[in-house]
Amino acid sequence: RTLDDAPSLAGKTALVRVDFNVPMEAGKVTEDTRLRVALPTIQKLRDAGARVALLAHFDRPQGQRVPSMSLKPVVDDLEKLLGAPVRFADDCVGDEAKAALADLEAGGVVLLENVRFHAGEEKNDPAFAAQMAELGDLYVNDAFSAAHRAHASTEGLARLLPAYAGESMRRELDALDAALGNPQKPVIGIVGGAKVSTKLDLLKNLVGKLDRLAIGGGMANTFLFAQGVDIGGSLAEKDMADTARDILAEAEAKGCEILLPIDVVVAKDVKPGVDTHTVLAREEIGGDEKILDAGPLTVEKLIKAMALSRTLIWNGPLGVFEVPPFDAATVKAAQAAAQLAKAGALVAVAGGGDTVAALHHAGVAEDMTFVSTAGGAFLEWMEGKPLPGVEALRA
Ligand code: 3PG
Repeated sequence: RTLDDAPSLAGKTALVRVDFNVPMEAGKVTEDTRLRVALPTIQKLRDAGARVALLAHFDRPQGQRVPSMSLKPVVDDLEKLLGAPVRFADDCVGDEAKAALADLEAGGVVLLENVRFHAGEEKNDPAFAAQMAELGDLYVNDAFSAAHRAHASTEGLARLLPAYAGESMRRELDALDAALGNPQKPVIGIVGGAKVSTKLDLLKNLVGKLDRLAIGGGMANTFLFAQGVDIGGSLAEKDMADTARDILAEAEAKGCEILLPIDVVVAKDVKPGVDTHTVLAREEIGGDEKILDAGPLTVEKLIKAMALSRTLIWNGPLGVFEVPPFDAATVKAAQAAAQLAKAGALVAVAGGGDTVAALHHAGVAEDMTFVSTAGGAFLEWMEGKPLPGVEALRA
């Protein structure tokens, strides 16, 4: 159920779960995407004459009131983005919260303090959820990126009040459905990142759903090693070799073509300006050299595969993109994906913390069809796991 399904909102108080777990340094927000994506829901409720009480977590205070983890620094940024005053309440339940809401005019906005200052939040304690529910008439979940948590403000509350998906939640779910649920075929995936072990469930789920899967980053080394390639001094999880072989066998059985690096950029160290060279993955990696990026032949093959596809789902960089020149493969592949997306030839959906940073680094985050704001939730969704925050809205 989305906000469009809600009966008259005028004069009602909406408890809106947002994800304001934003990067902050010295009490200042350094990246405000998650604030921006919350604006359409807040504005829609204000326009309809509702009062808006924002619920959010910040960091992991473990049930303690940790002053450095207060949400208060977010207020200034939110006021500027919204172009309207935002009141702050020192607590998300009880008298403080009630007082902040008591004389709030229609269309007014209150940000309630970090829900994780209460131990009941992460325990999904029904009594704590009930205390929050007392404050409002309806619940709106606009925090897809926290929907993998079965916490009181992401799950429990949805069971106590009429519950709706906010605009950002709806956009995320639509994009994810277009990428994996009900995609235009053929579908290609790019999965990168350091370790096979952290993406095992994800890889297993994807090989059953995709037509092609390109594996990059450190985890590709483990696959190359599993195939008997001498990977020199490259990062790899050698104890995962059997698992890597199982995934390759499963992919073959399910008709998913796996693209592994055919050439790689190697160096002795991960340092800017270090001597590098490009070699064929199966033949020429020296004893103490490390694979730090995919090579140009690999990127060319990947771009051709993307051009043959109608849908792309991307998680994880292809190399150590934070240390140029080992960003080259990720940047070129990202630019090609963005170009195809802009031309309407590819539905390109990406997500996960590193991936979003890599797309910004490549200057193409705006040109993808959709970039998720989620880290962990995006991964769990790619693993095929139900997300408690989403399931509670469906119940
Ligand atoms: C995130 O930043 O991915 C979400 O806000 C969830 O935060 P958490 O990992 O602390 O639950």
